[in-house]
Amino acid sequence: MISAQQAATPQNNGVPAFSLASKVQAMAEPTFTALRSHIYTMTGIYFQDNKKYLLESRISKRLQMLQIESYEDYVRYILSVSGKEKEREFLFDAITINETYFFRNEPQFEIFEKTLIPELVAAGKTKIRVWSAASSTGEEAHTLAMIFLEKIKPKYPSLSIEIVGTDIAPGVLRTAAKGEYRQYSIRNISPYYLKKYFTENNGVFTVVDAARKLVRFEHLNLFDKNRMRLMSNFDVVFCCNVLIYFDQKSKIQVVSQLYDGLNKGGFLFIGYAESLHGISSAFKILNFPKAIAYKKE
Ligand SMILES: C[S@@+](CC[C@H](N)C(=O)[O-])C[C@H]1O[C@@H](n2cnc3c(N)ncnc32)[C@H](O)[C@@H]1O
Repeated sequence: MISAQQAATPQNNGVPAFSLASKVQAMAEPTFTALRSHIYTMTGIYFQDNKKYLLESRISKRLQMLQIESYEDYVRYILSVSGKEKEREFLFDAITINETYFFRNEPQFEIFEKTLIPELVAAGKTKIRVWSAASSTGEEAHTLAMIFLEKIKPKYPSLSIEIVGTDIAPGVLRTAAKGEYRQYSIRNISPYYLKKYFTENNGVFTVVDAARKLVRFEHLNLFDKNRMRLMSNFDVVFCCNVLIYFDQKSKIQVVSQLYDGLNKGGFLFIGYAESLHGISSAFKILNFPKAIAYKKE
């Protein structure tokens, strides 16, 4: 084995001197179990037995990069004291699915604008704090900023908003902070929003400053109890399309901390295919024709 520390030298610049891909044996069951349990302890993400192939394919690129010859050696490395620390960020980037796009769940944005904001304003709010938990590359957070500028601010000129986007994967947060997107992300945006809220250069669409300055991004692991305790005082939380990666126990922990992070009278959205059934009964369920919002009463 070539140690991971030796492998990423300035000389090879992270580019493998030779390809190991064809030599790597399939991941043995005990290695998969050890890796899965390490990932679960760190993130709450649980890889079912049928997702072994996914882990293999994600990690194999890293093996090549580090010139490590087997999954066993790699797992030994990441479980070592120094490997645990050094590989943490890479693992977060490698194992997460970051699919997202602008205006992904339109009914939720409509409820946000037409029902939740008026209710919060009627309750006396002059500043709304919104959290896009598991923001990935930031499309949801920036969508909210655009809706605020386009629809909410004209109705409530003295209302202000603070949008915080958080994610566990450092790579996606770098994109989010730049506010630069490609065609894939903007596929669901109306030409009106595209023209008004982006500048385009060589196929790169950059969110205009007026929207970007309403949003900030931070690294946050939703499974980190201590960090989660610091996330408080939010009026609306969007925690969409991430609970599906957790097992029941981690879902309960995360949702309970999201509940604590909300102000009384605040709201939570989860993904279209996700449910709080068996996870939390603390919220009041608000049924809308095309989406559900959860209220902390
Ligand atoms: C499928 S994307 C969802 C993005 C966006 N919320 C949406 O609905 O379009 C899921 C995101 O959850 C993040 N994620 C997974 N586990 C996490 C954890 N424990 N803490 C914070 N973010 C996590 C991933 O990095 C990924 O960017």
